[in-house]
Amino acid sequence: MSTLYEPIKIGDLELKNRAVMAPLTRGRAGESRIPNDLMAEYYGQRAGDAGLIIAEATAISEQGYGWPGAPAMYNDDHEAGWSKTTKAVHDKGGKIYLQLWHMGRVKDESTYKEGEQAVGPSAIAAANNIRRASGKAYPKPRALEAAELDGIVQDYVEGARRVMRAGFDGVEIHAANGYLLDQFLRDGANRRDDDYGGSVENRIKFPLMVTKAVCDAIGAGKVGIRISPTNPFNDMSDSDPKTLFTAFAKELSKLGLAYLHILEPIKKSHPFRGNDEYLTPFINEAYGGHLMVNGGYGLEEAEQALKNHSAELVAFGVPYLATPDLLARFKARAELNTPDQATFYSGGAEGYTDYPFLKDKEKAA
Ligand SMILES: Cc1cc2nc3c(=O)[nH]c(=O)nc-3n(C[C@H](O)[C@H](O)[C@H](O)COP(=O)(O)O)c2cc1C
Repeated sequence: MSTLYEPIKIGDLELKNRAVMAPLTRGRAGESRIPNDLMAEYYGQRAGDAGLIIAEATAISEQGYGWPGAPAMYNDDHEAGWSKTTKAVHDKGGKIYLQLWHMGRVKDESTYKEGEQAVGPSAIAAANNIRRASGKAYPKPRALEAAELDGIVQDYVEGARRVMRAGFDGVEIHAANGYLLDQFLRDGANRRDDDYGGSVENRIKFPLMVTKAVCDAIGAGKVGIRISPTNPFNDMSDSDPKTLFTAFAKELSKLGLAYLHILEPIKKSHPFRGNDEYLTPFINEAYGGHLMVNGGYGLEEAEQALKNHSAELVAFGVPYLATPDLLARFKARAELNTPDQATFYSGGAEGYTDYPFLKDKEKAA
């Protein structure tokens, strides 16, 4: 048997196995941004299987909100809505973190308030090279003033407090995929000439401020962080990602976090892998704590990663999206369900809560 089925303690949590459901934006919260019963059902379906669920990217503030249909976590209604999900997951014996999100320069225009401009580290627009809700190019963002950063740190802290009040087991800080914290990290998006731009030491400063403040607020044992060092998504690039992300990992290692989560596909053909060198082993060495890997993993790749100690946890995105009992299928060497891309973000139950379990398929056969 593979170590994927073995329990592990990370931070304050005992996990029943090492298979993690990766955070997946599904756009099912509707215009209200309030997590609903359908979302609780979806997460509950996966809670008996995964060792840990990382619930989808969730906005910490009105300013950070920018994906139509995505959920939020900055008022009491959002908090009450999310508590339905945590109850559904805990009732099935699962564990669940929530991913905290500020979209920065890639906030969709359809979510702008009257006269609003998206914000970023610098006034550099992301090229329109990805799926966009509105189908329009990204406007140029406004560069944040240094004096505004403490307020954003505070939004993360308030968000993290709400997460814990809603019954989650912890928080994942989203520093990946070209959103605000990643925009500060990588020099393709950060051209600041103050204390938060230029050198690697300066560029990691703001993401570290956020992470430390969240740790102080809820305890480092309940905090994980996600990075995607070579992901070109959202028009991201860096002149020297190896130096940047190993330096960041070294600083993170001092905080006593529950885990570091790296999205870096092993295969170069994966859309979330750029042309850069594969950096996970270097980052792992610099970090030295619990490492979670993700990006194109199936059973064999996961077993391999755990066996050669290049990771202790493996997150699965699209596989969990389509197969609620993924680990049970792995164990049974059974076929996985086929993901339906058309319903990834479409709203409603179709392609969301109606993927069959193995037992349903066997009954139907
Ligand atoms: C529909 C969809 C939504 C996603 N939403 C998020 C998200 O909210 N936060 C995040 O960090 N990554 C998100 N990702 C990236 C996934 O977590 C994961 O890294 C990616 O799918 C690669 O892993 P996989 O090959 O196991 O699917 C999303 C990916 C997809 C396909």
